[in-house]
Amino acid sequence: MSENISTVILSKESRFKELLSMYLKEYGGFEVLEDFADDSDLYNTLSSLPKSFLIANMQDKSFDNLISRISSDCPNCKILAVTENPTVEFIINVMRLGAKDVISSPVIKSEFFDILKKVKNQLNCDYQKVNKCRMITIFSNKGGIGKTSVATNLALELARTTKENVALIDLNFQLGDITTFLDLKPSFNISYMLKNLDKINKDFLLNTLEKYKNTSLYVLADPPYFKQADDISAKQVSKLFDILKDSFSYIVVDTDASFGDKTITALDNADLLFLVTCINLPALRNCQRCLDLFEKLGYSSEKVQVLVNRYMENDEIKAEDAEKVLNKDIYWKIPNNYFTMMAAINKGVPVSEINPASNVAQSYKELAIYVSDSIHRHELIKKYTNNTFNSIDNILKG
Ligand SMILES: Nc1ncnc2c1ncn2[C@@H]1O[C@H](COP(=O)(O)OP(=O)(O)O)[C@@H](O)[C@H]1O
Ligand SMILES: [Mg+2]
Repeated sequence: MSENISTVILSKESRFKELLSMYLKEYGGFEVLEDFADDSDLYNTLSSLPKSFLIANMQDKSFDNLISRISSDCPNCKILAVTENPTVEFIINVMRLGAKDVISSPVIKSEFFDILKKVKNQLNCDYQKVNKCRMITIFSNKGGIGKTSVATNLALELARTTKENVALIDLNFQLGDITTFLDLKPSFNISYMLKNLDKINKDFLLNTLEKYKNTSLYVLADPPYFKQADDISAKQVSKLFDILKDSFSYIVVDTDASFGDKTITALDNADLLFLVTCINLPALRNCQRCLDLFEKLGYSSEKVQVLVNRYMENDEIKAEDAEKVLNKDIYWKIPNNYFTMMAAINKGVPVSEINPASNVAQSYKELAIYVSDSIHRHELIKKYTNNTFNSIDNILKG
């Protein structure tokens, strides 16, 4: 049996503390800690605990500094922000401080219990898993544009940032090179998985997929023989995604440059589809065609996002011009850094292992934070406000 989760309630109202303490007691598994001498005492206590839960009644900004320090120094402290008025600005602000959940006050018992269930699951699991998996498919119908570089580096940074389980799938069955990019020699590949679909569960997956070093990134390689690739159907791939979705917080899929049925399955299943492009005319034209096609396929404009690779500020075509041509905002720009990228690929390591301070490594890290945070932020904002995704995106970018 797992031990109680030490919980701190920050509030200037004693009524609030009493009510939430009562709910926590009724739910079980949480122990409320009280009587701290001051903020340092509280901070020191939380820092010394292997896992904890902090509930903050955010009536003004007085807890902001403390929350920010706790969230950056205590990775296993889950923070819940409570407010009377969960506006978009409030949610964004508290998530930047490090609160991963927001609830409105007066606190409704059933809503609070849902959060307690999630917090308990997250803190008591050996391997963490969030409720809902997010699948991110990386696509371009051009080769050599940077799909595998994006898939590999983003997946690794997502694992490092969130500490949650991330699956990286090589769906480039003819020329897959994720194993080369990460210097892995996996014992099992996708065709083995597909042959064993009936047996697959979470334990099987976590034991069979190749783990990248000491991270929560798991890699599913392409089949080594072309013949094996031919035998794989889109239906099987779809079933595999369903199974993976139950066991991972994020699935990142690298694709080939075709519109084959397996690629379409990965595009259909994606929650976020990164269309990778460079800023030059042929690539942008191509990108435009893909955007048209995705619209015809019924993909929402929030799902499809343009990711510029090899971005150079002094390029002849400016990012704003590209946005005008595409009639769409650019979601992210990965800077051009051929030297660091090539060094990483030749060594079979992610760019962060070549030079974590390089512009590309920093950009991938920030992209991972942006993707993981924005997914969660979007969900919370959708829950509490009537804002559309577009206006949220503008605020997030601002
Ligand atoms: N940010 C970058 N800056 C410079 N060169 C890059 C960058 N990202 C990728 N490249 C280069 O582009 C080439 C193709 O990348 P890759 O990820 O294999 O593309 P794809 O999977 O689309 O075929 C690689 O040789 C790599 O060195
Ligand atoms: Mg590739």
